[in-house]
Amino acid sequence: MITRRRNLVITVIIATLFYLYLLYFSHLGEHIKKDLFTSKLVDNIDKDNGLMDQYEKMPDEKYDNSAEVSIEKQKGILNPEDYCDDEPMVYAHISVKDNSKEVLKGKKFNCSTIEYLKKFKLTKEYKIKQKIKPKFPENAVFVIAADTGYYPPSRAVIATIQKHFGNKNKIILYDLGGIKENQDMMKEIKEICNLEFRVFNFSHLPGDVTGKKIFAWKVFIIAEVFMEYETFFYLDSSIYFETNNFGLFFDMIHNGSLAPFQMSGWTGHSLRHATNNGMYDFIPLDPEVTKRYWMMEANMMFFHRHEETRQIIKWSVLCAVTRNCIEPPGSSLGCPSEREDSPLARCHRQDQSAYNILLVNLEYKLNNQGKKVILHMDKNHPKNTKQRHSTRRGQMTSEKIAHCSKS
Ligand SMILES: *[C@@H]1O[C@H](CO)[C@@H](O)[C@H](O)[C@H]1NC(C)=O
Ligand SMILES: *[C@@H]1O[C@H](CO)[C@@H](O)[C@H](O)[C@H]1NC(C)=O
Ligand SMILES: *[C@@H]1O[C@H](CO)[C@@H](O)[C@H](O)[C@H]1NC(C)=O
Repeated sequence: MITRRRNLVITVIIATLFYLYLLYFSHLGEHIKKDLFTSKLVDNIDKDNGLMDQYEKMPDEKYDNSAEVSIEKQKGILNPEDYCDDEPMVYAHISVKDNSKEVLKGKKFNCSTIEYLKKFKLTKEYKIKQKIKPKFPENAVFVIAADTGYYPPSRAVIATIQKHFGNKNKIILYDLGGIKENQDMMKEIKEICNLEFRVFNFSHLPGDVTGKKIFAWKVFIIAEVFMEYETFFYLDSSIYFETNNFGLFFDMIHNGSLAPFQMSGWTGHSLRHATNNGMYDFIPLDPEVTKRYWMMEANMMFFHRHEETRQIIKWSVLCAVTRNCIEPPGSSLGCPSEREDSPLARCHRQDQSAYNILLVNLEYKLNNQGKKVILHMDKNHPKNTKQRHSTRRGQMTSEKIAHCSKS
């Protein structure tokens, strides 16, 4: 009798303890889950270099993996000897005609030039995985470069930015020579709102591409700013804004109807007219690009952070540090005007030639993948539907551009 009662009491105690145990650990379980979740999030932030923030704010964005897929596809195209340190050093492009594909591959860039890709964070470790929604105009940075001779027209560019965008956007002015030593210029520069002054160090370029007319400096400036900012405009000293109405471009970049790298006006001649054939040895042009396909001006270009943009900047940097690519032997800057029967490759436009080939190849590639991007030459490209800026070489202004005195 006593034993049975004792057994019952023990059973009740054990059952109660077991119940309390379950109750306690189920709560604890939630804490453990929460902690795991938090630390995972922290891990991701580290891996994403702080860009996780933007990704988090856009839960509805679909991950755009098109650029990545094309790199995967390239793996089958490139051979082991086309890589240096696991990094592709051969530019490859697939041209599509009717249903057949042709693989075009450039000459391999010297393995020693990978140093520049590392410097500008353009190697494959820096693949851009997020789709980042452009914030225009608030996030746009304006980049200008000038030496003392081009300072007066650069002042006019700053005046036109201030007129249409106000003082809120950051302006970066690169000194290509002599400005830092000029007290009058520096006095004004220090009082321009939101302006960051940087001196371009030409000795960072390989010795055979330091000439200003080789324009490797411009490619380096763009690569440097791309490391730091999501959306920026590169502006030559000839650019005159007529409006700030570029939002449409960024909406269209975001919805995939425009490539994330855009050039501005038409040069008045074709890409093939003003490109030395030697450049195609490194960066082959899609043969389906029509004979008289426009060459666009490189005097205003804008870049939005995207994997395809990283690719364009990567190949432009490799070309810029390779004299035979950026300026092959026999290049002449002066272009005779082009007629229907003009021979091809009459002159050469260095950086402008390289950016044009990379851009049109990208647009053809995206269209071949069924993405339907609008080409720069299409009637409905936003650059062709409204005049937003003009080119005024040697422009000047008497307007006061320094009104943020910090002293
Ligand atoms: C590659 O670059 C290195 C270092 O600048 C140079 O010594 C070598 O000759 C180059 N190779 C070729 C094939 O140009
Ligand atoms: C420019 O770069 C070179 C090589 O890195 C360096 O030795 C030199 O000090 C730099 N010049 C300036 C003014 O920073
Ligand atoms: C992209 O946006 C533009 C401008 O808002 C619009 O005209 C176009 O139809 C959109 N295209 C797609 C594919 O959504």
